[in-house]
Amino acid sequence: MDKLVIEGGVPLRGSVDVSAMKNAALPIIYATILVSGKCRLENIPNISDVSTSFEILRGMGAEITRIGNSVIEIDTENLVGSTSDRQLVGQMRASYYLLGAELGRFGTSHVGYPGGCDFGVRPIDYHIKGLEALGGEVKTDEEYITINAPLGVRGNGVYFDGISVGATINVMLAAVLAKGITTIDNAAKEPHVVDVANFLNTCGARITGAGTDMIKIRGVEKLHGCTYAIIPDMIEAGTFMIAAAATGGHIKINNVIPKHLESIAAKLEEIGAEVEMLDDSVIVTGAEHYKRTSIKTLPYPGFPTDLHPQMAPLLSIANGVSNIRETIWPERFRYVHELRAMGAKIKVNEDSATAIIEGVKSLHPAKVKAVDLRAGFAVLIAALMTEGETEIYDIKYIERGYEDIVAKLTGLGAVIKKVPVTD
Ligand code: EPU
Repeated sequence: MDKLVIEGGVPLRGSVDVSAMKNAALPIIYATILVSGKCRLENIPNISDVSTSFEILRGMGAEITRIGNSVIEIDTENLVGSTSDRQLVGQMRASYYLLGAELGRFGTSHVGYPGGCDFGVRPIDYHIKGLEALGGEVKTDEEYITINAPLGVRGNGVYFDGISVGATINVMLAAVLAKGITTIDNAAKEPHVVDVANFLNTCGARITGAGTDMIKIRGVEKLHGCTYAIIPDMIEAGTFMIAAAATGGHIKINNVIPKHLESIAAKLEEIGAEVEMLDDSVIVTGAEHYKRTSIKTLPYPGFPTDLHPQMAPLLSIANGVSNIRETIWPERFRYVHELRAMGAKIKVNEDSATAIIEGVKSLHPAKVKAVDLRAGFAVLIAALMTEGETEIYDIKYIERGYEDIVAKLTGLGAVIKKVPVTD
């Protein structure tokens, strides 16, 4: 077990390259189950959720070869079946993509329950409903979800009651090799949904409408291998933007798609930071003082829930009372306890899932922990902002989704090291 030790109070300066998007890379890795042949995936982030996914696929018979740091080849021609390691599946959320991908390829899937960051109930009823609409008969017990499509997977109309990234992608995965046409109504519009559709189309799928709320998938016989580069991670980019502002720094963030960053850029500008969008990079300059604001998380193109926790330390030093209303994961507030330990004045109104943040002059160092992935980066931002030495424990959560974080922050002038926990 390691911890991060940060000597904070140093404004971040310089430039940093964003890695590929975790939440696109993971479904694309599982989507290779549907392919007959070899896929070369470029820009694969080196994070623990990706290595766990490789282990799961290897256990099913996939051949995965790493070619350089961020390029891999996956050959799923000889997959032996649809049984995956329950323990590994339970280590991460995105393993639920096995359901759609296996149903699509084998007409059956037998998968343990997904795990992942704990911020309250994370249901998969939309996934199940969508896969049932395509002919899947679903049985669940305490350990496994089992789906069989005795008459084959057939295209159908699917309407989601709420917007779900995972369910939209899972139905897309199950539908690409189905007989007939599938439509997904009230689909998620996130850039990663579009990236998965683009990958599948490069392999020969016929998907239109990804990025809108109505996706149409015409089933094809077979998918072939391809070479595909995953899009940059808008959440990592947004996280660095917030870190630049929070430390009063000045950084250029390379390898971004500016369109994906509009909601976070608008919010940072509103409170007083400077944001300059270039073709494929963004420059953020921090201010000495920030204004209060209100944030409400929403599906794309609204303010992303995955950037909510990182905003909390920044708003903790803004003038006045800010609030963050969480509409996607109403229990995503476990980081509040850690930020309070550093002197932040935050109350959570559980009825409205809102954090009320009263600005203070500065935070103070403490021993804190990463309670989940984005919450972990929230305390890291707090540590970078704060003069003195902060220690962050349980950093495995941060490493699930952020690549080379110590090297990247050191490159921006942060004084940070990863050391083994001995106490
Ligand atoms: N929902 C249901 N039933 C379902 C599925 C979702 O009620 O069957 C609800 C959820 O409870 C939630 C909302 O729908 O209130 C949206 O959930 P969604 O399905 O979109 O979330 P997800 O696919 O499980 C992905 C990301 C999350 C990110 C959300 C929202 C992956 C692996 N995870 O989760 O990422 O917060 O979309 O954008 O792609 C993260 O990266 O830190 C992270 C948590």
